Amino acid sequence: MLLAGFAADRASELLAAVSAVTQIAPFRHMVTPGGWPMSVAMTNCGIAGWVTDRSGYRYDSVDPQTSSPWPAMPTCFAALASAAAAAGGFLGFQPDACLINRYEPGARLSLHQDRNEGDFDQPIVSVSLGLPAIFLWGGRTRQDRVRRIPLLHGDVVVWGGPARLTYHGINPLKIGDHPLTSGVRYNLTFRKAL
Ligand code: SIN
Ligand code: FE2
Repeated sequence: MLLAGFAADRASELLAAVSAVTQIAPFRHMVTPGGWPMSVAMTNCGIAGWVTDRSGYRYDSVDPQTSSPWPAMPTCFAALASAAAAAGGFLGFQPDACLINRYEPGARLSLHQDRNEGDFDQPIVSVSLGLPAIFLWGGRTRQDRVRRIPLLHGDVVVWGGPARLTYHGINPLKIGDHPLTSGVRYNLTFRKAL
């Protein structure tokens, strides 16, 4: 479900919280199991954080770069995620992990499933801030037809239930200038990881 503009009125507060989180856990380009640095810069907050390195994809309670726990999830993040999930039909969503993605022009996320979480009964809640992007929304297999859905500043996407393991991705970001984020797009992805 696409909740158009759901987060728009709280965007400044969310972006201030992103800035606070990244002072403790800076954005970094993680390396895929195949050894390639990702074009999207990432960090996390919450009790678990999604990481990738040469040994694989996983959730870790510690930031491998600082050897400290990830920053706590800001209250405004958790409140938004629960409200959006409820609006999408998933009551009682309490995320324990938030992956924060930063896209610069050209950065992309190839088609993938979110499948490192422990509980597929819980949805994924994804919040877009700043520059627009084209969201790729496929099916249950990599071969299924992919739809291209523009995601704008403040949009929230909720997927769960039969759609929980849908393949998705982001096309290379186009150059732009946004009043709140200048030349980048941020995405917050809330999960119940543990
Ligand atoms: C993701 O799949 O983790 C991020 C999707 C997005 O950036 O909108
Ligand atoms: Fe994803």
